[in-house]
Amino acid sequence: TEETLVLVKPDGVARGLTGVILARIEAKGYALVDIRLVEPDRETLAQHYAEHEGKPFYEPLLEFMLSGPSVAIRLAGNRVIEGFRSLAGTTDPTTAAPGTIRGDFGRDWGLKVQQNLVHGSDSVESAERELAIWFA
Ligand code: GTP
Ligand code: MG
Repeated sequence: TEETLVLVKPDGVARGLTGVILARIEAKGYALVDIRLVEPDRETLAQHYAEHEGKPFYEPLLEFMLSGPSVAIRLAGNRVIEGFRSLAGTTDPTTAAPGTIRGDFGRDWGLKVQQNLVHGSDSVESAERELAIWFA
């Protein structure tokens, strides 16, 4: 069975949305394999977001991710990688479809980073790489 890394990002934790996000994941039928509150340092985040280094939103993204704790989740189920990304919705929370986590709870707050509540691995290779970072 497939596994993915989900993060409830600092905006989701700070807004008290961890529970409703977990409820949607559980209602969809995926299995929580492991879960922990994390306070990553800059090096951990640089590893996690290596593909975005040099992009205009990279620094604001790291600052945002350093702004408070996140919840890291190891999630399992058939096709869970694409399934969770479908639950999450598209990257920009303003236009993410209603019914998705980002579409229902997120919006543009006028900042340089898109505060979009959750992260989900985008491929089997990413999931393996990211799970090794967050659940070493
Ligand atoms: P993740 O599940 O968090 O990886 O989101 P994603 O796969 O939908 O987006 P991507 O991996 O392309 O980008 C990672 C994160 O960088 C996003 O979740 C946003 O927080 C931020 N981001 C991505 N693209 C942009 C952008 O064009 N502008 C801004 N301001 N932030 C962005
Ligand atoms: Mg991504």
